[in-house]
Amino acid sequence: MTVTANADGGAGSPYVLCQDLFKIYKIADLEVVALRGLDLAVDRGEVVAIVGASGSGKSTLLNILAGYDAPSAGAVTVGGRDLLRMGSREIEEYRRSDVGFIWQQTSRNLFPYLSTLENVSLPMMLTNTPGGERRERAEELLRLMGLSHRLGHTPERLSGGEQQRVAIAVALANRPPLLLADEPTGELDDATAAEILDLFGAVNREMGTTILIVTHDPDIAYKVGRVVMIRDGKMSTEIRRRVTYQRIRGDVETDQPLEEFVLVDGSGRVQIPRDILEQLNIGEKARVQIEDGRITLRPGE
Ligand SMILES: Nc1ncnc2c1ncn2[C@@H]1O[C@H](COP(=O)(O)OP(=O)(O)OP(=O)(O)O)[C@@H](O)[C@H]1O
Ligand SMILES: [Mg+2]
Repeated sequence: MTVTANADGGAGSPYVLCQDLFKIYKIADLEVVALRGLDLAVDRGEVVAIVGASGSGKSTLLNILAGYDAPSAGAVTVGGRDLLRMGSREIEEYRRSDVGFIWQQTSRNLFPYLSTLENVSLPMMLTNTPGGERRERAEELLRLMGLSHRLGHTPERLSGGEQQRVAIAVALANRPPLLLADEPTGELDDATAAEILDLFGAVNREMGTTILIVTHDPDIAYKVGRVVMIRDGKMSTEIRRRVTYQRIRGDVETDQPLEEFVLVDGSGRVQIPRDILEQLNIGEKARVQIEDGRITLRPGE
């Protein structure tokens, strides 16, 4: 991974840059290390899927990028702005205008007593968008989400898929350059989930929004250009499609070959997937040999 110290988020440098992130939660005397030296670079306008087992740190990472939580150590910049140097006021503004967030728990995304139109208008009230513009924008977004016929409904009168589509419209209300979605399709059936991914694709194309999406979808590598796998709080492998990566869609496309890489961090560390270590019978030590431009690993004993 190439990393620049003073990334400005402009042309050529990553829009999202996490370097050696650590997050330690302390509960009484117990410490939980949720992120341990995580690196991630995402270009402006790129769509990246994040996959990983439960508890591997996916939500922790998104919460940090959204400005809801601070890492215990490491550096994180979005659009060239150092999130750790922002004061509370600046962070609040960043949350309102620079990121859209879709929570893992559907019920957390919407106010139950507000209508669809009101839910989408609310973030724009917080940024003092004038009333007329607010309404126009909310209607336009809900049209894009295919919900023009549901403007007056409260969430309880919407299906799960409709609620998630409203949540996407809420997240996009202030035209944030970055959209963070934590398992937005986790509670939906396959057909509705595919529709939501298509909507993300439309948003990415039409607004140039950079999108990070956490998912358990086993076919996600066939639907986006880049999938990064998080394991024990650190990025371990990456799957890419050979041609384009700035896209996402609901249907599975198997025509382009996938390439899988093991990620090498700034200190030269790699994570070898556990199943491979077990297959090769490699325990705590391995023998390393370099020959013909290759590194080979063999069991130590
Ligand atoms: N507020 C918190 N206090 C203490 N521990 C936490 C807190 N939030 C997360 N953790 C712990 O940090 C680790 C990573 O949690 P995280 O929610 O990021 O996982 P995840 O990858 O999103 O999992 P899932 O797929 O189940 O949503 C877990 O061990 C979790 O128990
Ligand atoms: Mg989570």
